[in-house]
Order: sequence, then C-alpha cells, then structure tokens
Amino acid sequence: MISQDNLKELEEKGYLEKEVDPTLDLFDEIEKLKKEKNAVILAHYYQEGDIQDIADFVGDSLALAQKAAKTDADIILFAGVNFMAETAKILSPEKKVLLPDLNAGCSLAESCPADEFAAFKAERPDHIVISYVNCSADVKALTDIVCTSTNAVQIVESLPEDQKIIFGPDRNLGAYLNKETGREMVIWDGSCMVHEIFSLEKIVALKAENHGSEIIAHPECEAELLEYASFIGSTAALLRYSKESDCDTFIVATESGILHQMQKDAPEKTFIPAPPLNTCACNDCPHMRLNTLEKLYNCLKYEVPEMNLDERLIEEAKRPIIKMLDISAKLGL
Ligand code: 13P
Ligand code: SF4
Repeated sequence: MISQDNLKELEEKGYLEKEVDPTLDLFDEIEKLKKEKNAVILAHYYQEGDIQDIADFVGDSLALAQKAAKTDADIILFAGVNFMAETAKILSPEKKVLLPDLNAGCSLAESCPADEFAAFKAERPDHIVISYVNCSADVKALTDIVCTSTNAVQIVESLPEDQKIIFGPDRNLGAYLNKETGREMVIWDGSCMVHEIFSLEKIVALKAENHGSEIIAHPECEAELLEYASFIGSTAALLRYSKESDCDTFIVATESGILHQMQKDAPEKTFIPAPPLNTCACNDCPHMRLNTLEKLYNCLKYEVPEMNLDERLIEEAKRPIIKMLDISAKLGL
C-alpha cells in the first residue's frame, strides 16, 4: 500500500488534482495515451458510465482479477478501488499498476483490520479461512482461499462438509453463504455501507407501484432484503439475469453504477435503482466515485499514483488468490 508520506508527496507535487485543459477531448487523449504506453484500463461495473465506456474491459471482481493476471500490457490502470488495484499488483507484480485516486478505499475492507482478524483467527486454530476479495492485502495474507461473489458458493463447497471455516469480512455475504450451503461458518462482523443503506419498505412499495417488476440484489445486502429478491448474484450475474429474463422492469439493489451496463445491454427494459433509507445518493459508492475521467487522464499521463506493495506481502497474499483462480478455472467460472 502507498504510504501516507508518499501520498502527501504526490499531493504536494499536485499530480492528484492537476488541472486538465477543459478543451481536451478526454476520450481521444486517453485512447492516445493507452496506445503510446501499452496500457490497459480495467474498470468495475460500479464506475461512472464514461469510465466504463473508455475502459478496455469492464467486469466484476473475479473477471477483473482474471484479466489482471493475464494481460500483456505494461501498465494496468485500475478504475476501481484500492483492494482491486492491490489484487492486480499481487497477480502482476512486474507491471505498473495505477489507481486514479489512492483514497478510493472500501468500507467493507476497512471493517476488517488485519491485526484484529489475526487475533480472531488465532482463537480458532482448527478453522480454514475464506476471505471475500473485498479485504486488504494484509487480510489476504492471513487467508487460505479468497473468493468473490461469483464463486463464493463453489469455494465453500470445495471444502469437506465437516471442515470448520472462518468467513470474512462481509457478514451479509457470510450469512447468505451459510444459508445456501447449509454450513455454519464463523463470520467476521463487517459490511459494505452501500449495501446496508437500502430501505426495504420503500423497495416493497416501489415493487407494488411497478406491476410485474422484480427485485434483484447483490448478496452483500442484508438478509431481510434478500428474502424479497427474485434473483441474487454478483454484479456480472445480475447483469446476465436482467438481460436474459422475460421480466422487463427491475428494482436493482446494488451500487447504482451497474445500471449503466444493464441499460446498454437491454435498452428496451426499465432499471430502477433501489432507494436508500434517506434522500442521499447513498447507493453510489463514495469510494468508487472518487475516480473521474480527469483523474484517469492525469494518472495515465504522469503514471501516478502507483500501487506498490512489499514483496513478501505479495507472496503471502498471492497464494489464496491463486487458489481461488485455480478452483474457478476448473469450474469454468
Ligand atoms: P462483484 O463485482 O464481484 O459482484 O463485487 C461487488 C463489489 O462489492 C465490488 O466492490
Ligand atoms: Fe466497498 Fe461497498 Fe464500495 Fe464495493 S460498494 S467498494 S464493497 S464500499
């Protein structure tokens, strides 16, 4: 992880907020820089629409990790959040990995400090640790197998039924997995601020107003909401389902950035972002939204900020990620 000193130095140099000439066509300029520098832009579905459109590849956490492991580009510009850029660096340590704003963290990853997780693990020496990819590299280094929401059920089921398991850091995904697999994993008490802000009352009212609509939800949502969902899945699975289903109106309970691809894939259908408890834009992830087209341009032009990790940490955190990728490849995921 970039140290605070390093970040301060970059801020002092003005690279993070360097003004961009407003007359520039940023789409053209970014395309030019990508070619010139043999760079690839990987973007998560929660990024704003323009960033998804300029990216070479848009995907869920698993697909992005798979791409980062295989790319032959010299530079990976990661339009996502910190733990995603860390994962890319761990999988491709020889490449320059850039993140447009190093302050783009993740409330879920932050709800699991590595020292506390290490103590939690030490109290349960006969447990295997499965960690959701939304955690820091330090937590990954304490993990036996990483998972994403695309492969979590299969990863849990890949272990013998009597194997004791610790699952972290997301309590909602953990509870969903326990229900789906019939296991009794011990769950770390972390959560994502975006997926816990939805108002079930408003969602149910919205469904009644939109006759024939379906609620579709990410498993990071709370159990009470998931019970009302016609379909539960990762961002990629929600996207696929909404495109292929006969239903034409969806109330989407996940970060609102995904609606951009949903609408692109099925322009004739209606997608309604699930309403949050109050009137804020709380279902926009504030971390994901730190990235802008201007920051992407500066980042590629000046090649900062760069994600750097300690070599030993890379080695330790790589093991559980590679296990996940191997299991996923065998299952054709
Ligand atoms: P997926 O794209 O893997 O479903 O993950 C969602 C998420 O929370 C990313 O922050
Ligand atoms: Fe983290 Fe939630 Fe934002 Fe995803 S949506 S990056 S889990 S805070």
